[in-house]
Amino acid sequence: MSREVADHLRYYAELGVTGLARDPAWRARATVSDTAAAAVAPPVSGTGASETLDDIQTEIGPACTRCKLCTLGRSQIVFGVGHPRARLMFVGEAPGEEEDKRGEPFVGRAGQLLTKIIEAIGMSREQVYIANVIKCRPPDNRNPEPDEVAACEPFLFRQIDVIQPAVIVPLGKFAAQCLLKTTDPITRLRGRRFDYRGTTLIPTFHPAYLLRNPSAKREVWEDMKLVRAILQGDA
Ligand code: URA
Repeated sequence: MSREVADHLRYYAELGVTGLARDPAWRARATVSDTAAAAVAPPVSGTGASETLDDIQTEIGPACTRCKLCTLGRSQIVFGVGHPRARLMFVGEAPGEEEDKRGEPFVGRAGQLLTKIIEAIGMSREQVYIANVIKCRPPDNRNPEPDEVAACEPFLFRQIDVIQPAVIVPLGKFAAQCLLKTTDPITRLRGRRFDYRGTTLIPTFHPAYLLRNPSAKREVWEDMKLVRAILQGDA
């Protein structure tokens, strides 16, 4: 077996996939990447929604001072990355140390696991969009505080409205609670689908949680199979 194939199978095993279907009909199905490449949402027309991601980023500016995180050691704003018309969007909590250094969400250890999760459903980071509820790193990776969320979340909502993804996956309790405006624990939110701003929202566990609790990868794999089915029009 080539090393590439072995690596690939290891990814799936890490995600909790225990077997491969031998049914030829299953193998003949379009992959998400086929569907996603062809079905990036059409441009919005006639709705008056002419804002772009660049407009939002410009409005935030390179040195935002809307909340106290600007004085608490953040080195740059981590706006978001990916396809501006992605059909699948991931939302995390806040940038960590590595993200703050590089200016890109989910590039540390948790981010590498997220990349594997995206690849496991046949997509790439370039095809999806990845953002956080807040765009600056909280000191010592503490949780974002309510005033910081209040100052920053409107920009996330505007990013969602511009991208108009078919599916949003909030990663972990914080993002799921923020988007759904609930205090329900993630254990009650995951495993369910919600209608949200014209899209389907599928909460799942945060990849950092999976690094500490690898057995939860199985549930995330279930969530990602549902995401894939929705994107393929099968669910
Ligand atoms: N955790 C998050 O929630 N977001 C990141 O960008 C990185 C880690």
